[in-house]
Amino acid sequence: LAKQKEELINLHKDCFEYFQEQLYLRKNIEAAKYIIKRRITKETAKRFGLGYCPEKNDLYERLSQKYPKEIIDLSGIFLERNGKNYCRFAGRLIFPIFDTMNRVIAFGGRIITDTSAPKYMNSPDTLIFSKSRILYGLNIAKQSKENEFIVVEGYMDVIALHQEGIDNVVGVLGTALTQDHSFLLRRYKNEVVLCLDSDEAGKRAAIRSADILYQNGLMVRVMELEGAKDPDEYIKKFGKDAFLLKKQNSMFVIDYKIKELKNQYDLSKSDQKFRFVREYFEKILTPISNEVERQEYIKKLSDLTGIDENVIAREFSKKAQK
Ligand code: UTP
Ligand code: MN
Ligand code: MN
Ligand code: MN
Ligand code: MN
Repeated sequence: LAKQKEELINLHKDCFEYFQEQLYLRKNIEAAKYIIKRRITKETAKRFGLGYCPEKNDLYERLSQKYPKEIIDLSGIFLERNGKNYCRFAGRLIFPIFDTMNRVIAFGGRIITDTSAPKYMNSPDTLIFSKSRILYGLNIAKQSKENEFIVVEGYMDVIALHQEGIDNVVGVLGTALTQDHSFLLRRYKNEVVLCLDSDEAGKRAAIRSADILYQNGLMVRVMELEGAKDPDEYIKKFGKDAFLLKKQNSMFVIDYKIKELKNQYDLSKSDQKFRFVREYFEKILTPISNEVERQEYIKKLSDLTGIDENVIAREFSKKAQK
């Protein structure tokens, strides 16, 4: 197994070098044009090791000369169709995924033309790659002098922020944030700012992710981007200073959850107010294990509803004992 892992690492390095070379070839100018269109500089492309996998390529044959078929198959880079092996990244811009030791362990690939194909293709989980245990860009962000990480959704978000000089960004690559991700982050820093996409999916993911991070002992704040669908678009539209101001104004996770919850109810109507209180007990107070923090949020509920603090505290401890 150790031998297989080592071979897979070597194979990924070879693919990585191949993809990177291809990006700068005249015949693959479409890929270079796409990078320019996304306003990625040459320097940034180099920093992140971006590459291109040509539609027609001899990657499988090349690798076959050096690695046994078994290893090539284990890499997950190829898909078998009609007895032929196709690179799953054919025709795509390549984002190498590095581990914290700067080894390439997987790839992501984005379509560069309008097709009905899925926008991104990623390596499947392999002996050396597990999507729930890797954060894109952590190899770079772990060296940042900032005392927090900014967590974003996508490859392009990490790259765009980094290009603007924000070097503490990591991407969850569209998957749900896991406990393993929390452990990984906590190795380096104990504060996280979540900056996910502003669509409904992103908002839901923010709450779920914030809960997981918070329960694993990280201080979590949530950032909201108005007027842009994600951090990449935001920083290109409004610039770095606007982004950093948004970050400064980000809300502590519990306050963010309260704001979202409050939006769902009209507290001037008693029936809605009572339902709000129930949800607040369940979603805000119950997950708080720290007595001091809970007291603070009982007071807040009292401020929001006009219900006496002591009554809330008594009712909550009654519920908690059940
Ligand atoms: P998004 O749909 O938000 O894409 O997915 P994006 O990152 O903004 O991409 P651009 O700006 O259109 O290029 C966020 C992340 O989810 C994963 C990718 O890692 C992507 O960066 N994803 C998304 C996939 O794995 N497959 C998909 O088809 C789409
Ligand atoms: Mn999407
Ligand atoms: Mn998204
Ligand atoms: Mn985007
Ligand atoms: Mn996005």
